[in-house]
Amino acid sequence: MTEPLELLQRPRRLRRTAGLRRLVRETRLTADRLVLPVFVHDGAEDEPIDALPGQVRHGLDGLVAKAGEALALGVPGVALFPKVDAGLKSRGAEEAWNDNGLIPRAVARLKRELPELVVITDVALDPYNADGHDGLVTDAGEVDNDATVAALCKQAVCQARAGADVVAPSDMMDGRVAALREALDDAGFTGVAIGSYAVKYASAFYGPFRAALDSAPVASPAQAGRVIPGDKRTYQMDPANAREALREVELDLDDGADWVMVKPAGPYLDVIHRVAEISDRPVAAYHVSGEYAMLKAAAAAGALDERAAVLEQLTGIARAGADVIFTYYALDAARWLAEGAS
Ligand code: PBG
Repeated sequence: MTEPLELLQRPRRLRRTAGLRRLVRETRLTADRLVLPVFVHDGAEDEPIDALPGQVRHGLDGLVAKAGEALALGVPGVALFPKVDAGLKSRGAEEAWNDNGLIPRAVARLKRELPELVVITDVALDPYNADGHDGLVTDAGEVDNDATVAALCKQAVCQARAGADVVAPSDMMDGRVAALREALDDAGFTGVAIGSYAVKYASAFYGPFRAALDSAPVASPAQAGRVIPGDKRTYQMDPANAREALREVELDLDDGADWVMVKPAGPYLDVIHRVAEISDRPVAAYHVSGEYAMLKAAAAAGALDERAAVLEQLTGIARAGADVIFTYYALDAARWLAEGAS
């Protein structure tokens, strides 16, 4: 037999049994911190989304059923995203603050049938904008910051009126958090929280989401004489930047954001970590559509154990510092955790 090494430190001692590992685990992934993003459309039936296997565009009945399932599994909230009929899209995105629009109806129905559900609405114009951008596009092809902020205020107040618990601006316009807070307060919605997408990167990982909503920016020249930017890089952040992320977070915290989000999650764990170090409010991270689609594709190809890989990825996002995780895997993860995944 080999002579034992004279080691004072043997870190493996605490990895010896499942019980020990459980006892000393530093990060505990639970359903409590998960949010399920859900797609809705104006149809009675649920409709599969090719780009996102396992996800559907819900009709309102299906939406209530899915949200009820989330609650039953311990997932506290859902984030709503609408697929808006092409005929309702316009350059001014006015449908975004129609009180009888799809999102207000969905919110009202959810809050009526599942009052304890946390309902989060997206504040951004892209699903409603004929140009496909989160903001209003001028004739010169600029995304007009200040005009967009005014529109976002109308949208957020409309969502609050319908009963949203958290309005979540994902548009990346400057100054929108302060403007939203003032507009919500003036309208009497002091209790509606702002969950800011403070750090949103111009990412390639949103592809399946845009396919799901048919909301990709309309590349120029879509209309005679107008140039429409084909990407979102004049407002979403450059993936190479982290210091700038801290600046965005500081601004949104100063302006009254109730939480700050980093998006996407997996490629930006360092950013999540740095944001968590400076934020005195909860940090959220969005495990986005492309991250989900990659895991699905690898699992379908037999290259990964889906359950183990997903729980590892979500644990990594939590370990980096995310208190709240938006993920299309929320219900699967909650189910796997309830089954006692190690
Ligand atoms: C747009 C918005 C996007 C996502 C959430 N809100 C896409 C974009 O910025 O183009 C992406 C979410 C995902 O990919 O899962 N306001």
